[in-house]
Order: sequence, then structure tokens, then C-alpha cells
Amino acid sequence: MGKINDLNLKNWREYNDIITDSLWIIGERDKSGSHKGDYHGNFIPQIPNQLMRRFTKKGDVVLDVFLGSGTTLIECKRLGRNGIGIELLPEVARIAEQRISQESLFDFEVFTEILIADSTKKETRRSVEQILESKGKKSVQLIIMHPPYHDIIKFSNRPDDLSNAKSVDEFLKLFGNVVSNFLDLLERKRYLAVVIGDKYANSEWVPLGFWTMQEILNRGGLILKSILVKNMVNNRAKRNQEHLWRYRALVGGFYIFRHEYIFLFQKK
Ligand SMILES: C[S@@+](CC[C@H](N)C(=O)[O-])C[C@H]1O[C@@H](n2cnc3c(N)ncnc32)[C@H](O)[C@@H]1O
Repeated sequence: MGKINDLNLKNWREYNDIITDSLWIIGERDKSGSHKGDYHGNFIPQIPNQLMRRFTKKGDVVLDVFLGSGTTLIECKRLGRNGIGIELLPEVARIAEQRISQESLFDFEVFTEILIADSTKKETRRSVEQILESKGKKSVQLIIMHPPYHDIIKFSNRPDDLSNAKSVDEFLKLFGNVVSNFLDLLERKRYLAVVIGDKYANSEWVPLGFWTMQEILNRGGLILKSILVKNMVNNRAKRNQEHLWRYRALVGGFYIFRHEYIFLFQKK
């Protein structure tokens, strides 16, 4: 199999910061450079960092179809990977753009492109192809998907925002459209990662994670490589209400979410 990363496994003992366990307990969020934890719903930079170091090489192209505040593209710049990010909301894309431009280049020239667009739409896929063509590329080597966890955080009032899907079924349908839209841009043997958590609705656990996993597997063409479970640290607002949440959990027979998933697939 061709190499899909820049790790020199003759020196494998040197890479003890690369996670190989399925349980990811990550302490502090990386807040260095232009990484900030202030976009409600962003993921910690260690997630794209770990994925890119294991599953891409310098000069590869990473596609993030729910870019948010640009965490993935900042990591791309640091690690010498090219990045394309798609974000629906112009005001959020502008924040991402600002942060990415503030991040100084490492030792490798890369491109980082942001599209303000709806990832469910065919024309967005065409725009990605055009970017690739203009860079002399045909495919991407890693796709990262960090969708809204349905309506847990409402990112906007727009009907094309996945966090406004009227039901879980509609959310899954839209998510499936995004997967179908970009899957064949992924090079064979390369990886797709979905970062997502579950939710409660009407006192019932809704396994969004496993259902989105199934949406992907139903499409065929990919194998499931890993289900990673990552610790989730509460935001400040929730931390201040820790006792209240614990009380509610005890009364209602709930468990407080402390984990989210990273589903990892490889294209056949
Ligand atoms: C969970 S956040 C991603 C956060 C990102 N990983 C970060 O670190 O900032 C999901 C993002 O998807 C965007 N989004 C929702 N529906 C979308 C759509 N149809 N197309 C593209 N982006 C969408 C939201 O505006 C939101 O910024």
C-alpha cells in the first residue's frame, strides 16, 4: 500500500503523541496561534491535527465541508496540507478567513480556500472541483465532517442550515446529501472522518452518531475503520450549572454527555 502519511515508522517510538487508542481523552484545548475556543460548536484543534498527521502527507488536500471557525484550515497551514473549507454562513466564514490569514505559514507552501456555500448543493461540489482543477489536482486525500449535532446548537435561522432540519430524519437526509456530494472526490484508500455527538429529545437518547455512521455505510464504497470516543469538556455556561445538570440527571434518569464520536472510514 502507498504511504498515506509522513511518519517514518522505523522511528515509531518517537511518535508517542500520536493517538492509537480508541478512547481519546484530551486535556487542554490547543489555544496557540490563531486557535481560539470561542466559536460555539467548534472542535478542538487536536482532532484535525491527529487525523492529518496519521492519514495525510504534506501537499495533500484536506476538505472540510462544515468549516465553522476554520480550525481544520489553521491546522492545514501548520502541517503543510492544502485545505478547502465550506461554510454556509458568511459571517462565520469571515471569522475563519481572518484566523487562517493570521496563522503564519510553516515551512511548506500550501493553499487554503474557503467557499461560502451550502454543502448539500451540487453547485458547491462543482466549485470544489474548480478549485482543485485550478491547483492542478483531481481529488482530495482526507474529508473531515463536523456537522451540527442536529438542533443542539442552532447556527442560524436559515432553512439550508443542517441545525434547522425539521426532524432527525430530515437532518440525516441532508447529511447524506453532503456525503454523496463529495465522496467520489476522495482518493481511493484515503479517509473520511465524521465528528459528531448524540442528543436527548423528549427524555429519549437519540443516537445521531450511529445513525450518521449508518448513512455513510449505506452508500457503500467505504469501510468502517474505527469508532473513536472522545471526551467532551463542558463549555463555561454549562460548567457553572454543573450541580443543576447533575440534579436533573438524577431526577430524570439521564446521563450527562461527556463524549462524542469520531467515525473513521476508508475508501475501498
Ligand atoms: C459543528 S460546526 C463546525 C465547527 C468547526 N469544526 C470549527 O472548529 O469551528 C458546524 C458548521 O456547519 C455549518 N453548516 C450548517 N449547515 C451547513 C450547510 N448546509 N453547508 C455548509 N455548512 C453548514 C454551520 O454554520 C456551522 O458553522
